[in-house]
Amino acid sequence: MPEPAAPGEAIPIASDHGGFQLKETVKQHLSGLGFHPVDMGCPDESSVDYPDYAFQLAGAVASGDYQRGILICGTGIGMSIAANRVSGVRAALCHDNFTARMSREHNDANLLVLGGRVLGVEVALDMVHTWLTTAFGGDRHQRRLDLIEKPPTT
Ligand code: RB5
Repeated sequence: MPEPAAPGEAIPIASDHGGFQLKETVKQHLSGLGFHPVDMGCPDESSVDYPDYAFQLAGAVASGDYQRGILICGTGIGMSIAANRVSGVRAALCHDNFTARMSREHNDANLLVLGGRVLGVEVALDMVHTWLTTAFGGDRHQRRLDLIEKPPTT
């Protein structure tokens, strides 16, 4: 169960072309908050395939290299679908401060997913801060997370 991020923590962040501009802004914001952003691409606004970036970053979190990370594509949908295929990852596509906070309190999300073509910049930056500093609630929420780890077989 990751605790809220501590100042100085390395936060990996990746995007496709649809999220590139917001990624650059979020990186600056992370540095301003005292975190250490680790850019895992993409390098510019040239067209790329979001699963490549989702799997690289999600794998780095699942392996324990990082406690948590941030993914951004145009809508956030593709990144969240891909990242949630990686075992141990709980990627939450969030839209506002409330969903960002709930994704930590109730879902212990270890990846925050944002839509670069959907969110206003200030809203997104506020969400990042909230998401990084909100603790998991545990208790009944942990029971539900445990259930997710045992999906029914058909
Ligand atoms: C890229 O055009 C776009 O499909 C991608 O950024 C994302 O929105 C996919 O879900």
